[in-house]
Order: sequence, then structure tokens, then C-alpha cells
Amino acid sequence: MSSRKRIFNLLRTINIASCQCPAHSHRGNVQVLNSTPLKDYAFEIKCSTIRYGLGVTREVGMDLVNLGAKNVCVMTDQNVVSLSPMKAVLDSLVKNGINYSVYDNVRVEPTDTSFKHAIDFAKQGMFDSYVAVGGGSVMDTCKAANLFACDPEAEFLDYVNLPIGKGKPVTVPLKPMIAIPTTSGTGSETTGMSIFDYEEIKAKTGISHTALRPLLALIDPLHTLSVPQTVANYSGFDIFCHALESFTAIPYNERSPAPENPALRPVYQGSNPISDVWARFCLQCLNKYFARSVYNADDLEARSTMHLAATMAGVGIGNAGVHICHGLAYPIAGNVKNFVPKDYGTEPIVPHGLAVVLTAPSVFRFTAASDPDKHLEAASILGADILGKKREDAGKVLSDTILMFMDRMKIENGLSAIGYTTQDIPQLVRGALPQHRLLKIAPVPQSEEDLSKILEDSLTLY
Ligand SMILES: NC(=O)c1ccc[n+]([C@@H]2O[C@H](COP(=O)([O-])OP(=O)(O)OC[C@H]3O[C@@H](n4cnc5c(N)ncnc54)[C@H](O)[C@@H]3O)[C@@H](O)[C@H]2O)c1
Ligand SMILES: [Fe+2]
Repeated sequence: MSSRKRIFNLLRTINIASCQCPAHSHRGNVQVLNSTPLKDYAFEIKCSTIRYGLGVTREVGMDLVNLGAKNVCVMTDQNVVSLSPMKAVLDSLVKNGINYSVYDNVRVEPTDTSFKHAIDFAKQGMFDSYVAVGGGSVMDTCKAANLFACDPEAEFLDYVNLPIGKGKPVTVPLKPMIAIPTTSGTGSETTGMSIFDYEEIKAKTGISHTALRPLLALIDPLHTLSVPQTVANYSGFDIFCHALESFTAIPYNERSPAPENPALRPVYQGSNPISDVWARFCLQCLNKYFARSVYNADDLEARSTMHLAATMAGVGIGNAGVHICHGLAYPIAGNVKNFVPKDYGTEPIVPHGLAVVLTAPSVFRFTAASDPDKHLEAASILGADILGKKREDAGKVLSDTILMFMDRMKIENGLSAIGYTTQDIPQLVRGALPQHRLLKIAPVPQSEEDLSKILEDSLTLY
């Protein structure tokens, strides 16, 4: 008999032999689980090592020496390569005698093609460590390059999330990666996610595994001082939705199925008391500093706090997850028409933060009934007066609060303002449906009609 089975039998014998009277019923209630419970009953928090401080980038060369790095790949994009964050990194590498190669061809809002380009570079370079200097686009590209360089025989779709790819778990050891975010938004420096636009299906998807998490995140607020207003604005709304979605996600112990092995517990586990702490902190920061950080580029206090909030929200989403706003954002970005935002280059793109927030007012009206108190609490932390508000008004209260922020930050007036019409909605719904990983984390299940209605309501907002 296996030892596991012996233990179950033993516990069962004790259980049966126990006194069943009400006075001692606790002894008779030993719960013996010999099969995996239907719903999960545990959550765990994983996160990169985070080091935060003004000017902390100067330490990266020493970190690489400490790691024994001899051949480092520094990844960035064509814009950041000539800005001060990159200069600070290279100065530190030179000072510490680190041998490095720069890949500066990361695409803003990366695609499978741009990922493959970076992967080829990584495979050829035989690097022993990686440093990503940039926003989510750079960090995500670097994670994928590291993964495929460490498993050169793997097919691209092997590791991509189900059902688009094969969702293979990462079992090969990856090289150490240091992430140095230069935007305040994605939180990618702490997460095991790498997101790209899969051109064939015109929707984003990604690779999601804890092994992709950077070893170290250097959070240096000095890098935010060069972030243009539009980028600060849209990436701020990414933090905004990370906090709101992870806070309102299905509770971890309502998610099913429970994993048969802890190694199989998904990255996105649902809301839990620890992620909630991060989310509440972020909402407080957004209330106090979001507008200041966007409209005053030299407000170091506001920009520093938003930079920290992005990382904290990253820890929240990296464990609790995000749901409908992000699930819908992937086809909204993937089907981009001709929207060319300021400060993002010359190609049409829907920046991630904009893609997520455009449906947020409608999404939270839809989810509020799942937990009205939590939706009211979120609105209250964001500054709404909830005194005397009824639980049945929670959706409207939170939605109005979000709209107030969007209006204050001059966000485009709904999906129609970036070129979508009612005719596009079926295509957007089709693009969202494969985002199982996200939609399942929502606190309420959604039908195709529900998603269509959310999108329809998001065409015009004000
Ligand atoms: N992996 C994750 O956990 C995760 C989470 C959310 C979003 N994402 C992904 O991240 C990507 C978006 O990343 P992002 O919002 O950080 O923006 P980004 O990396 O796409 O950069 C946006 C623009 O800002 C510029 N920029 C970056 N830092 C700058 C600085 N300090 N000064 C001046 N300009 C600067 C870039 O060159 C680019 O033009 C999307 O692909 C999105 O899907 C990933
Ligand atoms: Fe996001």
C-alpha cells in the first residue's frame, strides 16, 4: 500500500473511532481528503526580488558581478536606447567590467514576429544573463528570448497559453534576468507573464509561467522623469485596471478546479487577502498621485509613487490575476485600425493601458453584483463618497468613479474614438473568447452576449 493511502486509511480510522457527540464534535470532524477538492483551498504569493530607490540602477553592474555573469544581453527599444535609463545601465556595466551586447530592436507592443527576432538574437549570443531596460514591451520580449534560448529546440507555440498554444510548463532552467522598468504601468518586472500580439489571430496572448519571472527588479524612479505625458497616462490606467481587476477577481477559494499538484496551481489564482493589500495601496496612490504624475513630468514624488504602485500592482496581478478588461483588451489592441497615439511612434497601435480602460466602466457595472461591498470599497478608496450608497448601486458608483478619472485624464471617448463600430463587435468577442486564463478569473461567468453588451456599452463613454 502506498504511504499516502496508508495515511488516509489511518486518519479515517481515527475519524470513525472519535467521539461524535456534539460536545466533542470537533474531534469527529477531522476532514480527510483523499481526492483533490473541487475548488481550490490555498493560494501562494510569488514575486521577483524587488529593490526600490532613486538611482538604484547604478547597482546593476555589481549585481551581475555577484551573479558571475560573463556575457550579458541588454535588451531595450529604439527609443529608450538613447535615453538616460540606458546610459545609467551601461555606465554601471562598464564600471564593473561586464561584457555585454545590446539588442535595441524590441517592438513597442510586441508581436510573435518581433519576439522571434529577439529570440534569434538571444540564441546566437549564448548569453549567461539578461538585463531588460524599458517598459512592458521590452521586459516581455526579454523573458521570451531567455526562454527560447534556453530551450532552442522548442516550437514557438509550445509554451504559449492554451488554447492558442500548447501551454507547456517550463521545465528548462532559465538564465537570470534583471528587469529595470522605465514606464510605470505593467508590473512585468515582477510577473511570470510575457505578452505579445499573435498576428495570425489579431489578438494578444502570451506565455505564462513562474519560471519567466525576473530574478531581480530594480525600481528606479529617476527613469520615469523622461516618460512623455501620453505614456504616463495610458500606463497609469494599466495600473488602475490591474488594481481593480485583481481586487474584484473571483476569490481564490471559489476558483476550480483545485490543482492536483501545487506545481500546477495557475499563475492567476483569484483574489486573496495578500493581493488585496497591494490593490488597496495602488488605489490609494492613484487617487492621490495619478493626475499629478501625468500633468507634472518633474513631480518626482508623484512619479516615484506611481512607479512603486506599478510594481505593487504587478505583485497583485502576478498572483491574483486580471479578468474581463484585460481579456477584451487583447482583441481591441490586436484589431487596431488606424489609431496612432502621440508618443508611441508612427505605427497604428492601441497602447495597452488605453485598451484595458476603455471597457472598464461597463465591466465593473457587470461584475458589481458578485461583491457589491468590494466594488463600493474600491470606489471609496479612489475618492468617491459612498455614504448612503446602496449595495445595488455599487456598479454605478464604481463605474462613475472610473469615468471621472478617465474624463479628468482626457481619455478617448470610448471604442468608437479609436475606430471601432458596432459591426466590429462580433470579431472582438471572437478574439476575447480564447482568453480563458483571464475570463475565468472574473467573479461572474460571461456569455458571448454579455461580452457583446459590455463592448457595445463601451463604444461611447461620456
Ligand atoms: N507581462 C506583464 O505582466 C504585462 C502586464 C501588462 C501589460 N503588459 C504588456 O506590456 C506592453 C506595454 O508596456 P508599457 O505600457 O510599459 O509600454 P511600452 O514598453 O510599450 O513603451 C511605451 C512607449 O514608451 C517609451 N518609453 C518607455 N520608457 C520610457 C522613458 N523612460 N522615457 C521616455 N519614453 C519611454 C517606449 O519607447 C515606447 O515608445 C504591452 O505589450 C502589454 O501587453 C505586460
Ligand atoms: Fe495590463
